[in-house]
Amino acid sequence: MVKLYFKGIANKYDLYKYVKLSHKLDAAKWDEDAGVWNVQVHNVETGETFHDWGHVLVNGTGILNATWDVDYDVKGKSVAILGTGSSGIQVVSAIQPDVKSLVTFIRSPTWITAGFAQSHAGPGGANFTFTEEQKTKFREEPDTYKKYRKEIEGELNSRFKFIIADSEEQQEAKKYSRVEMTSKLNNEELLKYLMPENFAIGCRRPTPGNGYLEALTQNNVRVVTEEIDQIVSDGIQLKSSEIVKIDTLICATGFDLSFCPRFELIGRSGENIHEKWKDIPEAYLSLAVPGFPNYFMFLGPNAPVGHGSVLPIIEHATKYIINMMKKMQSQNIKAVSPQASAVADFSTHTNEFMKRTAWATPCRSWFKRGTIDGPVVALHPGSRIHWFHLMQNVRFEDWEYTYYSKNRFQYLGNGFSIKEGPGKDTTWYFDGPEEGYMDY
Ligand SMILES: Cc1cc2nc3c(=O)[nH]c(=O)nc-3n(C[C@H](O)[C@H](O)[C@H](O)COP(=O)(O)OP(=O)(O)OC[C@H]3O[C@@H](n4cnc5c(N)ncnc54)[C@H](O)[C@@H]3O)c2cc1C
Ligand SMILES: NC(=O)c1ccc[n+]([C@@H]2O[C@H](COP(=O)([O-])OP(=O)(O)OC[C@H]3O[C@@H](n4cnc5c(N)ncnc54)[C@H](OP(=O)(O)O)[C@@H]3O)[C@@H](O)[C@H]2O)c1
Repeated sequence: MVKLYFKGIANKYDLYKYVKLSHKLDAAKWDEDAGVWNVQVHNVETGETFHDWGHVLVNGTGILNATWDVDYDVKGKSVAILGTGSSGIQVVSAIQPDVKSLVTFIRSPTWITAGFAQSHAGPGGANFTFTEEQKTKFREEPDTYKKYRKEIEGELNSRFKFIIADSEEQQEAKKYSRVEMTSKLNNEELLKYLMPENFAIGCRRPTPGNGYLEALTQNNVRVVTEEIDQIVSDGIQLKSSEIVKIDTLICATGFDLSFCPRFELIGRSGENIHEKWKDIPEAYLSLAVPGFPNYFMFLGPNAPVGHGSVLPIIEHATKYIINMMKKMQSQNIKAVSPQASAVADFSTHTNEFMKRTAWATPCRSWFKRGTIDGPVVALHPGSRIHWFHLMQNVRFEDWEYTYYSKNRFQYLGNGFSIKEGPGKDTTWYFDGPEEGYMDY
């Protein structure tokens, strides 16, 4: 019997078991009069449903949720893997030494690229384990640790240039990958399927794939490029009618690309986000949506997720959201919503910029919602540093504001600032030039 393990959008039982979710948000609806989000939540353990509310709704439910049964042991199993994205490539090299046999299905070619921050990686760009001595040094010498982190991050940040399709860096990256792939694979038949001809490196997320090409040439591995007809009880039936017998199937076939949350989201005038985004998801700088007041999200459409670590992106978005909330809280603002015209201008700029990038070359990618030539909806039009800089200079003029009072200056109140309350430093402006600048 084939045991199916679907990675990608989790069904509710998988989600509860592995992510240990205690409460699930089912629905959120904006109340224009009260200026609040009413939410419906249910307790995953007990099934109890309850209602709650908040002035601001911040969505951190992720865009690439994976479900993986960590207890499942592939040792000695006959396994098939669908998918040659970052996930499929990493799984192949990770499980190949342990499984009895491995059949990997390759539907389209992909670039195997240079490792990330290679000068700090293990041999061949691989992961490695820090020694106890190194960990102690990092703990005891924060400056050494910071310098090390900055070096890695700096190396990753410097890689963006190759994303410009006709750049010298793109040509260099291709040359490197061609040599690497040819020497590691040493198999003309496989290279024909795996080496892309007509799209740039970075069109799909770069996949260093340490050990992947080497794994493909091992005795227990078979590469299948033939189309699948159907999954049958004891394996996978190919178009040629051959049945590839397996007992475990891993679908590393990607994620839900809609950018829609997995809960109902109803904004101003009853607008439903699933309806609004059914064709193209568009957001304000990946963070907010016109018509959905006081709603912020992490990693929404057009966030800079194509290179480097996601964590600093989440940190910058967090600071931006906190800034907006401080403004709302101190200036008696009931609702903030990005202007539709700002999103339209941003989308026009984005679509124009994308034409010159590796992402727009003809590959099928989740960056383009699984299309070959669709708009690049997943990525920011520029580097992550470009986006961080953008986040630091909040463009308040792109937002619409609704106040609790008729007069926007009602919050000026009695003429005294909270900065001159008891114990406050009333001469902070003699300190650094940035000191207290963004305090509300
Ligand atoms: C296999 C894989 C490897 C990756 N490796 C890296 C990497 O090396 N470096 C990197 O920077 N990024 C990596 N990423 C990208 C990764 O998605 C992010 O770095 C990170 O997980 C994003 O964090 P997040 O909090 O936004 O979302 P998530 O980590 O996806 O967390 C979202 C959470 O929200 C919960 N949730 C969803 N819906 C609801 C609901 N309705 N109610 C309540 N809770 C809900 C989910 O259960 C989940 O716990 C990888 C992604 C994948 C799939
Ligand atoms: N370490 C990391 O940083 C890391 C690791 C894993 C994932 N991630 C993140 O997650 C993102 C998604 O990666 P992913 O690999 O999970 O998904 P993905 O990049 O969308 O790749 C999906 C793969 O599945 C194939 N596929 C889809 N449907 C198929 C079908 N019916 N039959 C055969 N093959 C099929 C696709 O083939 P086609 O190309 O032909 O469509 C593609 O090779 C990455 O881009 C990255 O952002 C990060």
